[in-house]
Amino acid sequence: MARSDLLISLVKASIDGNTSAVRSTVESIISEEKSKQHNILAERLTHALQTNGNGKHLFSQADYKTQNKVREALAEFTPKRQLDELVLNKQTRQSVNQLIEEQQRARLLRSYGLDPRHRIILVGPPGNGKTTLAEAIAEALIVPFFIVRYEALVGSYLGETAQRLKHIFDFIRTTPCVIFFDEFDAVGKERGDLHETGEIKRVVSSLLMHVDELPSYSVIIAASNHAELLDRAVWRRFQLRLTLPSPTPKELQTYFEKHFQQFHGVPAISPENIVKRLGKISYAEAEEFILDIRRQEVLSMHEKLLRTIVKEQLQAWEERSQTKNQYTQTKDE
Ligand SMILES: Nc1ncnc2c1ncn2[C@@H]1O[C@H](COP(=O)(O)OP(=O)(O)O)[C@@H](O)[C@H]1O
Ligand SMILES: [Mg+2]
Repeated sequence: MARSDLLISLVKASIDGNTSAVRSTVESIISEEKSKQHNILAERLTHALQTNGNGKHLFSQADYKTQNKVREALAEFTPKRQLDELVLNKQTRQSVNQLIEEQQRARLLRSYGLDPRHRIILVGPPGNGKTTLAEAIAEALIVPFFIVRYEALVGSYLGETAQRLKHIFDFIRTTPCVIFFDEFDAVGKERGDLHETGEIKRVVSSLLMHVDELPSYSVIIAASNHAELLDRAVWRRFQLRLTLPSPTPKELQTYFEKHFQQFHGVPAISPENIVKRLGKISYAEAEEFILDIRRQEVLSMHEKLLRTIVKEQLQAWEERSQTKNQYTQTKDE
């Protein structure tokens, strides 16, 4: 597209609040600039597409003490991971795409008196993409990504928790963003002390109230490894409930097939057999396995055959998992 058309598309997309069109137009401008060797401008544009809360004027509205309290409990990240990097089953991907489209075209929905969905809960065993998916959603929406640090939120001064929660939500509601509550099951956990238990209950109900009152341009994503610990009042709040399970052997096989393409040479052992030998692992572990091989490949300056590296890594993994099993067995005894 000619430069002038791109600029006009960009203005239109911005006015329509269509972030996906803003992104694709800026990406076209970037590739055009790159082709003209205008690398600095291309880089600045790429950078401008990645958003975090820095530079926003939000904090200036709050007093200094409040700012610090919010900052202690809220970590702010520039989202970088992308949806394409994740292996998701068809249903999950479809639901996520729908949610993103609703958010991207929220203005249209609102003109019909509808709100986009914005309360999501992700459940599943560790290492299968909950945190990464939350980040990738922020990346797709071009909004800042905040992670609530539960420790800092509850902290040692339980009395302050409700106040902190209020500050966080007062801050969050002023900006389109993705706010991620990890280990959401910890939120309602009872404590030994009777007095504290009562207080925790009040904190939980005020948290749920804040979740209810959050405007639909702020996307809240909660995650839990222990779905069974979440009560009905919590589930009810979330419009989209997604499970990210551990990969099946077939899915792992596809994952390895895809990643082996980046290696030089052939691993000699088939992805199917690798999966068999590794046993039940998470995506995080599969990623670690691939990275181990890549590190070895680089360090050996490609002199070691890939088949040797894979063989050695498989042995190392098997030994490690045996040690792990022994350890957990002795612990259980
Ligand atoms: N479904 C997936 N597809 C591809 N990679 C994944 C997937 N799930 C996890 N990973 C990889 O494993 C790492 C850990 O995942 P993470 O999102 O922290 O898991 P969780 O939050 O569920 O514990 C990430 O860096 C990611 O690259
Ligand atoms: Mg996580």
